[in-house]
Amino acid sequence: MCGIVGYLGEQEAFPIIIKGLKRLEYRGYDSAGIALMNGSLSVYKKQGKVSDLEEFMGDANVKSTVGIGHTRWATHGEPNDTNAHPHFSADRKLVMIHNGIIENYAVLKQKLILRGHEFISDTDTEVFIHFIEQIQIDNQCELEEAVRIALTEVIGAYAIIVISAENPKQLIAARKSSPLVIGVGRNSQEFFLASDATPIIEYTQDVVYLNDHEIAVIKPNSLQIKDIGNKPTTPYVTHLEMELESIEKGGFDSFMLKEIHEQPNSVHDCMRGRLNAETGHLQLGGINKYLEHLLNSQRIIMLGCGTSWHAGLVAEYIFEELARIPVEVEYASEFRYRNPIVHAKDSFIAISQSGETADTLAAIELAKKEGGTIFGVCNVVGSSIARTTHEGAYTHAGPEIGVASTKAFTAQVTVLTMMALMIGRKRGNISDTQFSELLYELETIPAKIEKILQLNDHIKDIASEMQHAENALYLGRGYNFPVALEGALKLKEISYIHAEGYPAAEMKHGPIALIDEAMPVLFIAIKDNSYEKIVSNIQEVKARKGRVIAIVTEGDDLIPKMADYVIEVPATYDVLTPLLTVIPFQLLSYHIAIMRGCNVDQPRNLAKSVTVE
Ligand code: F6R
Repeated sequence: MCGIVGYLGEQEAFPIIIKGLKRLEYRGYDSAGIALMNGSLSVYKKQGKVSDLEEFMGDANVKSTVGIGHTRWATHGEPNDTNAHPHFSADRKLVMIHNGIIENYAVLKQKLILRGHEFISDTDTEVFIHFIEQIQIDNQCELEEAVRIALTEVIGAYAIIVISAENPKQLIAARKSSPLVIGVGRNSQEFFLASDATPIIEYTQDVVYLNDHEIAVIKPNSLQIKDIGNKPTTPYVTHLEMELESIEKGGFDSFMLKEIHEQPNSVHDCMRGRLNAETGHLQLGGINKYLEHLLNSQRIIMLGCGTSWHAGLVAEYIFEELARIPVEVEYASEFRYRNPIVHAKDSFIAISQSGETADTLAAIELAKKEGGTIFGVCNVVGSSIARTTHEGAYTHAGPEIGVASTKAFTAQVTVLTMMALMIGRKRGNISDTQFSELLYELETIPAKIEKILQLNDHIKDIASEMQHAENALYLGRGYNFPVALEGALKLKEISYIHAEGYPAAEMKHGPIALIDEAMPVLFIAIKDNSYEKIVSNIQEVKARKGRVIAIVTEGDDLIPKMADYVIEVPATYDVLTPLLTVIPFQLLSYHIAIMRGCNVDQPRNLAKSVTVE
């Protein structure tokens, strides 16, 4: 939530910051702001998107080689011009941008009010910068020391950048539980700061990931890092392999559509170098040191939120089938506030596209504290979750920028399937033949996804029939029950149609009461071991005049006679079907949202990376 960008160097800061904010808009887009150091501090901020800020700034003097920018997802205070970042100190000599939440801001605010501070916004960030200012006055110290002391007293999450009018060639940055990356450009003469690497890679691929409780002091030709105990650390520079094209729309109207269409490649990339059916090779390089622990797990607990939680649910079925280890799937946000019973032989798998989700991070910390061994399945390389877990496997899906997760889901399910297969094989639960057949079949999945994507026009026609619905019901069984949940989530988050996902057999325990002519009911009715049961469920819906849209296996000649619309997917092994059945739901939601005039990449109230509780 919230994207932050900073630049210090010899180039013009304004275009770098504006472009960076546009790349980070997926993190929040209810207001944006910028501070430039040109003689004095100039601050511009506006409710709305980054383009509204640009328009508002018109032909303001933007000449400057030092600046910071922010795109907001509101936590404290409604989205308006005043609450937009950056925020000033009382003397207007300091400005701050902040991603995160300061939990003790109310107490700090009261203390500062007693010292004569006045606040114009409702934000915790304004309190934070006034607090730093007051510490500097009280201690008569340098700004970096005031920031350090403040950080020992604030409770919560933050990635911040502070500029001072009195020290115009300096940026001070710090982080705890919210991400911050520092790009090191041109012989270490210029520095780019951002919430993730996407605003940076155009200029440099050398980055330093700031760790929790670290403070960076950035000056021309100098990057110094220390922790909040004042202990200096040597910046560790990582070279990124990210390509610029991977973060642009590449001819598609939206990132979401591009990312849906990237799935044949992203699923393939996820298996590349790890799986070879011909040679019978299957290895996840990131899982090594703790592999024995994983193989001997008495229980596996999946942790995640939203779509990543759905991937965990799919994995529950797959692991129990192939690895024969009991699995529990926990919402990270629930797990973190439980008093969990963790056994030494438990393994946790934390699933996260961004690798920054606050609830998942907190659940990992708790599991670790209780003695659990944690494996990460993350997409963003170098992200907090990837670094906090004991070991893990990246999904290698490439940057996912559309707020609704698509290619990350299929990549997560692919990695988790490979993990389950690897464990099952090593534990002797899968025969040589079964193992080999599944590897060969996995290799065909990208081509099968490609085939489904070719049904785009047909799916668009169905979308046009569904676009005015107010509710929708998604039903599936077994491996495809979580896909029903994911289909419903995709529809509601981008088209704002209320949708529910259910195990199909549960329909008669309640949801059937909702069915009438107006209710589209979307079935995953492929030819797997629950096919006959699903056929009966479809008949029950038709008997109540519901409109049935069914995802069926190619060549099915029974369901097309019963359903209003069918979408065919190629046949595959039951365990791999979620990788195919989810694709029509992604396209359907996309088209419905576009027909309803919604912004699919930036749905209302959502943010891509949920770094607050
Ligand atoms: C839905 C969606 C969210 C995320 C959730 C977890 O389309 O994108 O539900 O799946 O916020 O995010 P990550 O995977 O980054 O931890």
